[in-house]
Amino acid sequence: MKCVDDFRLKFGKKEFVPILVGGMGVDISTAELALEAARLGGIGHLSDAMVPDVSDRRFDTSFVKDKTRFYKYNIDNSDKSIIKFDLVVLAEATRRHVEATMQAKRSEGMIFVNCMEKLTMNAPRETLRVRMASALDAGIDGITLSAGLHLGSFGLLADHPRFRDAKLGIIVSSVRALQLFLRKNAKLNRLPDYVIVEGPLAGGHLGFGMDWAQYDLATIVAEIVQHLKTEQLDIPVIAAGGIFTGSDALSFLENGSAAVQVATRFTVSNECGLPDKVKQEYFKASEDDIVVNTISPTGYPMRMLKNTPAIGSGIRPGCESYGYLLDGNGKCDYITAYNREVALHPDAKTISVMDKTCLCTHMRNFNCWTCGHTTYRLKDTTHRLEDGSYQMLSAEHIFKDYQFSVDQKIALPG
Ligand SMILES: Cc1cc2nc3c(=O)[nH]c(=O)nc-3n(C[C@H](O)[C@H](O)[C@H](O)COP(=O)(O)O)c2cc1C
Repeated sequence: MKCVDDFRLKFGKKEFVPILVGGMGVDISTAELALEAARLGGIGHLSDAMVPDVSDRRFDTSFVKDKTRFYKYNIDNSDKSIIKFDLVVLAEATRRHVEATMQAKRSEGMIFVNCMEKLTMNAPRETLRVRMASALDAGIDGITLSAGLHLGSFGLLADHPRFRDAKLGIIVSSVRALQLFLRKNAKLNRLPDYVIVEGPLAGGHLGFGMDWAQYDLATIVAEIVQHLKTEQLDIPVIAAGGIFTGSDALSFLENGSAAVQVATRFTVSNECGLPDKVKQEYFKASEDDIVVNTISPTGYPMRMLKNTPAIGSGIRPGCESYGYLLDGNGKCDYITAYNREVALHPDAKTISVMDKTCLCTHMRNFNCWTCGHTTYRLKDTTHRLEDGSYQMLSAEHIFKDYQFSVDQKIALPG
């Protein structure tokens, strides 16, 4: 019987196990997780979300503290547009995170970084350029462009010495988004090395509206594979979103995908950055506990657990420390929502904001429990222990289960 291991993802002469572990910000897809995926012959992802904060935790730097101190005078100001990122700091933090990870890599597998366009950081072009260029400088194998159409992102890198040798790919959720990207970049004479097609069951932000349930990954993948064939473009297509078993993955590989990208199953791995307590919440979740809502200030729907502390929280905007979602004019929808609630309840000690959340602070504190649609099945991938908790898994176990399992089986840990 066939399994995922009968297939290989090819980039030029190099071959990989056709499994990518997707980027999960903020540091949910840790360096350890990415390194495991690479060690096992696949491809892992770092996330480039809030890297100065990740660097502080990983290397004991003080980038966030320094920024908070610098902008302290603005904390009571409802206008956050003055807060800017220091591009030198951003480059340094990225360099540290990526370089340390790449130096630890001992295998032929690859490590990419997931770069979200929606992290507009009050200077969208400049900050994205710095994040991508410094990741390339620090030796990352490739960049996956995500959370946005990225029409100008290749252009931002065109002068970089590694622009043609690093692997560059894009995540899309429709053939239209891909067409736009290809058309916009035609003059650069540089195609993406891979296209990840992310369907509506994925974790994190969705590239769909609130009508996401009407879409289906297999259909979108088939449209994109057909489009590339018609255009005679030989670009590997990677399916993502809701692929829970090796057999699910196999069916995509047999129908024109060159690989799969998976994430949800790895949220309960030892190597995943979520705190253990939160991993147990993921295990416990039932289907009814998972919602897609519009509380992310990015404007994209986002999937998360219903009991996530981020929902309804009315904390003060944390832009003096973070500010990753400030748009090009220094605005964020959470700030607007927060200021509205403060004006409505001038005497309240604490307020609740239902329609938006302070995503930076909550993601940073692992208080926004974003997850994939299949999270409710995680309990079926492990043992329940005597104390009622669920046994965590190694990333290796999960990776190999995808690689070798057949017949919709899921191997339980030893
Ligand atoms: C906890 C979590 C966080 C995620 N964060 C991001 C992110 O920061 N950027 C991104 O492009 N995709 C993100 N994703 C999407 C994954 O990279 C991946 O493409 C998708 O979840 C695959 O589907 P699956 O989770 O059903 O396997 C996230 C997914 C999860 C589960």
